[in-house]
Amino acid sequence: MAILPIYTYGDEVLNKVAKPLKKVDEKIQTLIDDMFETMEQANGIGLAAPQVGVSIRLLVVDVSCVKEYKHVPPMVIINPQILETRDEVLMEEGCLSIPGVREEVWRPDVIKLKYRDRHFQEHVEEFDGLLSRVIQHELDHLNGELFVEKLDSKTRRSLKETLEAIKHGEVEAKYVLAEKSHVA
Ligand code: NI
Repeated sequence: MAILPIYTYGDEVLNKVAKPLKKVDEKIQTLIDDMFETMEQANGIGLAAPQVGVSIRLLVVDVSCVKEYKHVPPMVIINPQILETRDEVLMEEGCLSIPGVREEVWRPDVIKLKYRDRHFQEHVEEFDGLLSRVIQHELDHLNGELFVEKLDSKTRRSLKETLEAIKHGEVEAKYVLAEKSHVA
């Protein structure tokens, strides 16, 4: 397994709509294992493939480090599709691609999700609470969207400098970041 560098705010791959997977071959299995290792090393609870520079509809989630979720097994979610949502809630979010920024975001509490697992088996399942939150955040990455885009304009203004700095590679994290290809 390998630790993969994480792409940060401003990198083009994070703004792209990722492609659905038609199957899970050996290369994808390796990528999944590497994504779990990368996420764990960065103390993350969710990671989407575009964050490691691969524009496909794949994400991994592991919330077992959180007390109430310690029995929840790690999940691989491929080609996810939200079928239903209900009950909006406010919850704080952060993102490995936007180091140091944490803000509260409104999202549905409950989602009904259709997805495929790492064996390409289809599931339809309901999630709520933290698990639902992480899945929705990661699913946004597959659509080229970041959580800071969901904030009100005042909060976004207050983050402007920080985000500009990350865009220009002026950022540090306790995990490996991908090098900026277009530092101005
Ligand atoms: Ni994120």
